[in-house]
Amino acid sequence: MAQARRFEGRSVIVTGAGSGIGEATAMAFAAEGALVTLAELDGAKGEAVRAAIGEQGGTAQFVMTDATDEASVKAMLDAACAAHGPVRHAFNNVGMARPGSLEDMSLEDWNWTVTISLTSAFLAMKHEVPVMKAHGGGTIVNTASMSGRIYTPSAAPSYSAAKAGVIHLSQYASCAYAKDNIRVNSVLPGLTATPVIASMFTAEQQAAIASEHQMIHRAVDPGEIAAAVLFLSSDEAAMITGRGLEVAGGGAHPG
Ligand SMILES: NC(=O)c1ccc[n+]([C@@H]2O[C@H](COP(=O)([O-])OP(=O)(O)OC[C@H]3O[C@@H](n4cnc5c(N)ncnc54)[C@H](O)[C@@H]3O)[C@@H](O)[C@H]2O)c1
Repeated sequence: MAQARRFEGRSVIVTGAGSGIGEATAMAFAAEGALVTLAELDGAKGEAVRAAIGEQGGTAQFVMTDATDEASVKAMLDAACAAHGPVRHAFNNVGMARPGSLEDMSLEDWNWTVTISLTSAFLAMKHEVPVMKAHGGGTIVNTASMSGRIYTPSAAPSYSAAKAGVIHLSQYASCAYAKDNIRVNSVLPGLTATPVIASMFTAEQQAAIASEHQMIHRAVDPGEIAAAVLFLSSDEAAMITGRGLEVAGGGAHPG
């Protein structure tokens, strides 16, 4: 049976599209006919994903973007609309953490993590919503984390707080813009086998963490997050908004 192409001809933004969850989701959107704007800070990574999508017969443009810089985000939105038409679906995915406990974390490290993990979602939505409002609606999915819903001991407090903020900001926006036919959800990955995780934990360590903290004893594959994002973005989820969808093997991870 031919693969369904739920996003044929639709303009889609993915931030942090050069690696891991963002890369897998950009590839999945493109495979279903979307016209994808890859918003990414790292030029080599963004260009590599653009080329990979092209090789598969898909359509994507790479726009070098700093998701924490408002002018950069606005320019990326403008470029997406100019190349592919008004943005209909956005996946705001950028997020990172600097380690540290509540007592020893510097204010600079706190602000860095909150800016990249929460303020980035605010800036993206601030500029996505007016475009969607003006063109009949759209969907937004923001990347949160299990660490934003429950206590995960090794997550930095800044990261947990920022990701909790992402869940609630998504809920806020879903309420504020339902009347404009804009649905907003968040996705909550558990430990997901992306390059950043591979740089921190061996495959054996990932399996041990998953076994300790999840019902399903393995790390999540980035493609499994992508599948959830595409579902939430698709017309199949037309009555789902303001939700935070856990994709975590039935549990939480400690990082
Ligand atoms: N991997 C996990 O286990 C896991 C678990 C829960 C939540 N998450 C969240 O999922 C998201 C993606 O994580 P990942 O593991 O795929 O990360 P990753 O490091 O593999 O990819 C992140 C991408 O974002 C890009 N980026 C960094 N700063 C940027 C900026 N300012 N502007 C634009 N792009 C920028 C990086 O260059 C990179 O390509 C993050 O929000 C992360 O917090 C990941």
